[in-house]
Amino acid sequence: IKIFIDSANVDEIKAANELGVISGVTTNPSLIAREGRDFGEVVREITAIIDGPVSAEAVSVDAAPMIAEAEELAAIHPNIVVKIPMTGEGLKAVKALASKGIKTNVTLVFSANQALLAALAGATYVSPFVGRLDDIGHDGMALIGEIVQIFDIHGLDTQIISASIRHPLHVTQSALAGAHIATVPYKVLNQMLKHPLTDLGIEKFLADWAKVPKK
Ligand code: E4P
Repeated sequence: IKIFIDSANVDEIKAANELGVISGVTTNPSLIAREGRDFGEVVREITAIIDGPVSAEAVSVDAAPMIAEAEELAAIHPNIVVKIPMTGEGLKAVKALASKGIKTNVTLVFSANQALLAALAGATYVSPFVGRLDDIGHDGMALIGEIVQIFDIHGLDTQIISASIRHPLHVTQSALAGAHIATVPYKVLNQMLKHPLTDLGIEKFLADWAKVPKK
């Protein structure tokens, strides 16, 4: 499994990148809006930080303007992946973009059939939203398992991004379920690396080390 950071905040992305474990970035219109900055400028800065796929979302509703938007986004940097919403118009756009060699990440996926259709249209990635399903009392992680199984059985090479991750257990479960990628908020990334026994252990080792006679 690879870890992407789900953020549009350049400071967070820089800090996450310094850990050396992040191989891509996902953004969405809400994350961009939170920054209060120009979309293109933010995306350009992110591509300069991370040497890997950077998802930037198209906001048009119809296929034709979605394709035009995707072409503009893809021209920013070769690492740009265009996020396309999981709709009929989105599927048409994905098909057209695949034939032009533009990578896509089909977003707002909430069922196995949606993921299947996105893969058949030629999506590079699909993003099932685990946390938002959990929020309404559904089992988000079960969906990841189903998609992994379907793609395996049928040899579909679309990569599965476990998205809408809320806590570290979601990442462990995504890895166990066979997701190719988990895209995690910066907060969750920091929670993943922490363990109280590690902190206590360091404290104890340093305290004991201070007692070692030094010449
Ligand atoms: C992923 O690509 C999405 O941007 C993101 O994971 C959505 O997460 P949320 O449900 O916390 O908004």
